[in-house]
Amino acid sequence: MAKPTYFNAENFSGITPEMLSDYKRDGVLVLENMLSPESCESIMAHMGGLVDAFEPDDHKTVFSTLSREQEQENYFLSSGGEIRFFFEDKAFDADGNLVQPMSQSLNKVGHAMHDRDPVFNHFSRQNRFKLVAEGLGLAEPLLLQSMYIFKPPHIGGEVVCHQDSTFIWTEPQSCLGLWIALEDATLENGCLWGIPDQHHEENPRTRMKRTSDNPASDNYNATETITLDDTPWPEENKVALPVPQGTLIAFSGLFPHLSSANTSDKSRHAYTVHLIDGTCHYPQDNWLIRDKNDPIKGY
Ligand code: FE2
Repeated sequence: MAKPTYFNAENFSGITPEMLSDYKRDGVLVLENMLSPESCESIMAHMGGLVDAFEPDDHKTVFSTLSREQEQENYFLSSGGEIRFFFEDKAFDADGNLVQPMSQSLNKVGHAMHDRDPVFNHFSRQNRFKLVAEGLGLAEPLLLQSMYIFKPPHIGGEVVCHQDSTFIWTEPQSCLGLWIALEDATLENGCLWGIPDQHHEENPRTRMKRTSDNPASDNYNATETITLDDTPWPEENKVALPVPQGTLIAFSGLFPHLSSANTSDKSRHAYTVHLIDGTCHYPQDNWLIRDKNDPIKGY
């Protein structure tokens, strides 16, 4: 399988017909130099400040004790409108202490930096991202979810092959992921991989949802994953997408992708924003539900 074309987006002013045609064929579009090194370093420094201000003691047991699975689930399921910190599975030793410094222990921060933090709000709502979203076909792009992914050295975990629409279901499907390399993403530190030309079906092959769409139900804070099609992915066709700092990888919610564990000495920070089309139906049994007084917004 041929590697997708890497476009140079240094002077980006909109999605070109060539970019759109590649995106439609592959399900993914790689735009190098979308952001300057200075812009990447600046948002990384800002996140460094948020991490330094994070007080983990209140939360440590939430993440380190397997018997508290329901508390972890609640912490995750109520994070759609918040800024919350999630640790790597291997972050803690048997006594619940961090193995590495805090800055190298986190898996991600999510899921509403784009609305809750002024710096991330500004960063996420740059006009060039709006041009990408509109150029790739979203009639009314809405910023649903943001994640800052750390992929720390030595313990950054593998992410198995999946489609993001599994977690972000709309009718019809409209999820678009904007994945920004804040640092060089390499084969060694766990760059993205994907399987091009596999995004043409109507729906993702699995769906993760709440077991109830009624907040008053006992089952509201529980999730289930439904298999809609158990055909295995042709992983023999996967291609690596190593990219330099500042690259934007835009991909359909139906694009199957994965990443390896980070066994290197270098982190692999990335920032993602997931968009949906406001003209599509967003069911209330999606895991990410915002408060009625705090609706999802556009650019
Ligand atoms: Fe993903």
